[in-house]
Amino acid sequence: MRLELRGLTKKFGSFTADDDIDLTVEPGQIHAVLGENGAGKSTLMNMLYGILKPTSGEILIDGEPVEFGGPGDAIDAGLGMVHQHFKLVGPFSVADNVQLGREHTRGAGVLSPRAARAAVLEVSEQYGLALDPGAVVEDLPVGVQQRVEIVKALSGPKTELLILDEPTAVLTPAEIRELLAIMRSLAEAGTSILFISHKLKEVQAVADTVTVIRRGRVVAELPPTASEAEMASAMVGREISLTVDKAEPEPAEPRLEIDGLTLVDDHGVKVLDGLDLTVRGGEIVGLAGVEGNGQTELARTVLGLIKPDSGRVVIDDRDATGESPARRIRAGLGYIPEDRARDGVITEFTVAENLVLNQYRDEPFSRRGMVDAAAIRRQAAESVAEFDIRTQSPDDPAASLSGGNQQKVIVAREFSRPRRVLVAAQPTRGIDVGATEFIHSRLVTERDNGTAVLLISSELDEIYALADRIAVIYNGRIVGEVGPDTPREVIGRLMVGGEADADGGDRER
Ligand SMILES: Nc1ncnc2c1ncn2[C@@H]1O[C@H](COP(=O)(O)OP(=O)(O)O)[C@@H](O)[C@H]1O
Ligand SMILES: [Mg+2]
Repeated sequence: MRLELRGLTKKFGSFTADDDIDLTVEPGQIHAVLGENGAGKSTLMNMLYGILKPTSGEILIDGEPVEFGGPGDAIDAGLGMVHQHFKLVGPFSVADNVQLGREHTRGAGVLSPRAARAAVLEVSEQYGLALDPGAVVEDLPVGVQQRVEIVKALSGPKTELLILDEPTAVLTPAEIRELLAIMRSLAEAGTSILFISHKLKEVQAVADTVTVIRRGRVVAELPPTASEAEMASAMVGREISLTVDKAEPEPAEPRLEIDGLTLVDDHGVKVLDGLDLTVRGGEIVGLAGVEGNGQTELARTVLGLIKPDSGRVVIDDRDATGESPARRIRAGLGYIPEDRARDGVITEFTVAENLVLNQYRDEPFSRRGMVDAAAIRRQAAESVAEFDIRTQSPDDPAASLSGGNQQKVIVAREFSRPRRVLVAAQPTRGIDVGATEFIHSRLVTERDNGTAVLLISSELDEIYALADRIAVIYNGRIVGEVGPDTPREVIGRLMVGGEADADGGDRER
């Protein structure tokens, strides 16, 4: 299939999300669309897939203009889409979920359960996407759930073009490698792919061509051989530094001491197993590890959202183990949570309210028990400008922001009040390069101001860019503490429970 977009434009009221976009996808091509959070990528794909009606412009398939009244029409025309946020029904089986995707099409129709299973097996075999049609979706790892979405998208009557909207945002590094391999083999078999991303390395690894959009406009067409710096600058519209400038750390006294922390989950599994870790004022300790080894529980225990079964959390020489999160926050603990939907923003509240969420009862936002709306509005205006939060108004609900901009709200809030200890969990996940550069430099500033920073990240690049010391977590305990120049293979071995000895005989792991 040859897909052509001509002058595609989408306005929401007076706001133009996509402005006169031209783009052509050749058959069997992997065409990356790169852009910052809020650039207009998802809006463009939603027009293409019949979810949004273009304000103006044309879509042509193999030279013929098409108009889609809804996704069903797009599917019948040979399109498939995997959305940025999965649309699977957790308690249903894989086959039932794939079946649900077909109900709105004319071409496919509803299948019997047996035929649905057979259809899943056929598609998964055809494309080498291993799946058990009977498995319950919510029991599957995220990477496999995404495979279900892909099989669902491919099981239209004749899927020839697949749209993947930020498919790697929620995946682990191993799952990402797998997905990129799947994309390559799909393209080799003739499927065209529109790959939406803001991750430069992934785009370089799989794309045949790259269209960069910024604030709703096409600003560059680049070959995949373009450098990361070139791509980043095109996305952001200014020079971007991909390395973090930082001076030697000057570690002071311990500010955060974690002592023998143990936590047993509902299934009797020790998710934290006697974990010891110290972070001093003026240093960034990077916690490296494969996700699911206790990082989430550690962060939530330090904040006081979970009570440990044993062990202590000491903040500034004070045993905080029994304290509430509010007390710890008031004592100077900052927290950038990995799950912003659960712990970070209240989406029904306005952007301005979210920016003072844990401080609105304190001066200067309240005086003698009275909330000062003007002070809150001033703070919001300042943070929106300083952190470049893309919102039409600070009085809009946080729900109206893109995920990346919600993350900026959290970061702005945590950086705009005094703190002694900062726990930053996956602080740049789902965030574009411009905002990542900004958050990284702010973390270093924090450190230089004497804050003890615990950086939890599943991205080794991020750990290397920022950490003064690296601790590796595996199965709920710290299995190694090493310097910032330790080779990747050594940390990689520790992350899977191996030994740190650098001259070990099995280098190929
Ligand atoms: N339904 C909508 N109503 C108003 N504004 C919207 C709507 N959907 C998206 N936008 C705005 O359009 C811009 C582009 O959003 P989106 O296409 O989701 O960006 P991207 O996918 O590149 O991160 C954002 O500023 C967003 O707030
Ligand atoms: Mg998007």
